[in-house]
Amino acid sequence: LWTPAQIIEDQIERVREQVGERHVLLGLSGGVDSSVVAALLHKAIGDQLTCVFVDNGLLRKAEGDQVMETFARHMGVKVIRVDAEALFLDKLKGEADPEAKRKIIGNTFIDVFDDEASKIDGVDFLAQGTIYPDVIESAAAKTGKAHVIKSHHNVGGLPETMKLTLVEPLRELFKDEVRKLGVELGLPYDMVYRHPFPGPGLGVRILGEVKKAYADILREADAIFIQELHNAGWYHKTSQAFAVFLPVRSVGVVGDARRYEWVIALRAVETIDFMTARWAHLPFDLLEKVSNRIINEITGVSRVTYDVSSKPPATIEWE
Ligand code: XMP
Repeated sequence: LWTPAQIIEDQIERVREQVGERHVLLGLSGGVDSSVVAALLHKAIGDQLTCVFVDNGLLRKAEGDQVMETFARHMGVKVIRVDAEALFLDKLKGEADPEAKRKIIGNTFIDVFDDEASKIDGVDFLAQGTIYPDVIESAAAKTGKAHVIKSHHNVGGLPETMKLTLVEPLRELFKDEVRKLGVELGLPYDMVYRHPFPGPGLGVRILGEVKKAYADILREADAIFIQELHNAGWYHKTSQAFAVFLPVRSVGVVGDARRYEWVIALRAVETIDFMTARWAHLPFDLLEKVSNRIINEITGVSRVTYDVSSKPPATIEWE
């Protein structure tokens, strides 16, 4: 019989056997998979685990603090937080092409992670939150069967030069099983059941060139949207929901003046497998509330639109 508790016991034993007295490094992103690995390994090997959390400046509002709060403060996991916002923004400067932006973000992540790892003495293992669908996807990519695989750093992208042995305790599990493990390990429900967030983060939700001012506006808009979805009981009825920053100027009239300000698009979808998706039929009063709050509370936004495109052909992300 398969139970989360049994899988955990089993994996703890396996990890202890594999690792012994040696040290393990983990790139913690705050996503479900790496979070569950962190909790699991902490339980298995305690202080022999060091996590590196790279804040690339493209995270959602308060995300970095939440990761530190959950893991470092509450669970006592050793987490090194690297504030790399300035570096990422500098590398992204002038780049408007989506795939090029993805590559820059992925490569910069590896550089930063590598750099941080080299400062830690005596690490022999690298833990990764690889889950079964990742294994399938990267196998398909190798044989050229995969359709459109966007470059991201979830699988197999980490420093080949590091010569570390991989620890991948979730390799045989599906997402829903990983979530159950997370709950069993005591991770907060909201973290375990959060919508997926792409590796390049807000970098692909700011169309074209990424700038800090845009990211700051987008973070606020996104937080309002997500908060109102929760309030209305709609968050868990959607599979993924987020705001997108459109770097176009649209007119708004404030008093007697015409002001030309940015546009925010809202996207919410329902999907099983993320290969096809239907736009979520959110209630109009919810959309109205979100739109009013974004326009009233955020300086620099004059217009909010709702994306009513289904996938295919419109992908879930705008880039
Ligand atoms: P699309 O936009 O292709 O998205 O319909 C399907 C799912 O994949 C996520 N996505 C990414 N995840 N790196 C990631 O880690 C990426 O570059 C990337 N692009 C899209 C997207 O958020 C959705 O869940």
